[in-house]
Amino acid sequence: MMMSRLKEATRPRHEAVEARLGLLRLTSTMEGYVLALRRFYGLHRAAEAAFARVAGWDAVGIDPDERRKTPLLEADLIRLGLTPAEVAALPACPALPPIVDLPTALGAMYVLEGSTLGGRYITKAVRAKLGLTPGDGCSYFASYGDRVGPMWKAFGAAVDAFAADDAAREAVERSADATFAAVDGWFAEEAGEPSRA
Ligand code: HEM
Repeated sequence: MMMSRLKEATRPRHEAVEARLGLLRLTSTMEGYVLALRRFYGLHRAAEAAFARVAGWDAVGIDPDERRKTPLLEADLIRLGLTPAEVAALPACPALPPIVDLPTALGAMYVLEGSTLGGRYITKAVRAKLGLTPGDGCSYFASYGDRVGPMWKAFGAAVDAFAADDAAREAVERSADATFAAVDGWFAEEAGEPSRA
């Protein structure tokens, strides 16, 4: 199954990104939390713009619009003190791998959709440490709320059905790996740390 293959192939990448973000650093101060949200905004803005240019979503049964995260990030950032103009001026991540067709898009989307799973844990930590809740400063990490499981399952079923031959499987995996590397580099840059990518 393609989804378990992606999980295994990118496990070290996930560990690196998770270590870099660090649940502690992400939730220990409001400043750290807002910095992380600004960075996630730049990441998702770049990805969403690319997904919107890709043709053929209908054929795989995925609607990228319903999975957009920038509206949630925008709401959180405004709640935490940024103006809409400041949010709009945040830099978009320039380093995503090419997202030009369904295999490259699905690989990148695997990485971004998968982060909604970790988001469930982060949401709890943010509530405990910073007192923010879904709908009040922590909409992004809460993402689909109680639909996180079903949304992930639907995404996985679509990827499994799509990646039926070796060429497709390899292209999806390459894109997922490169996307994780870009995510690591993007957060490394913010932290002023060298990228492991
Ligand atoms: C402090 C930061 C993070 C923590 C604590 C974290 C934690 C987790 C946890 C606990 C899971 C498994 C959840 C489950 O199976 O129910 C998970 C899955 C995943 N996370 Fe993260 N995560 C973090 C950051 C990220 C980031 C930044 C990305 C990518 C942008 C990411 C991408 C993924 C992916 C793709 C999966 C799905 C793996 C799979 O089952 O195929 N994570 N994360």
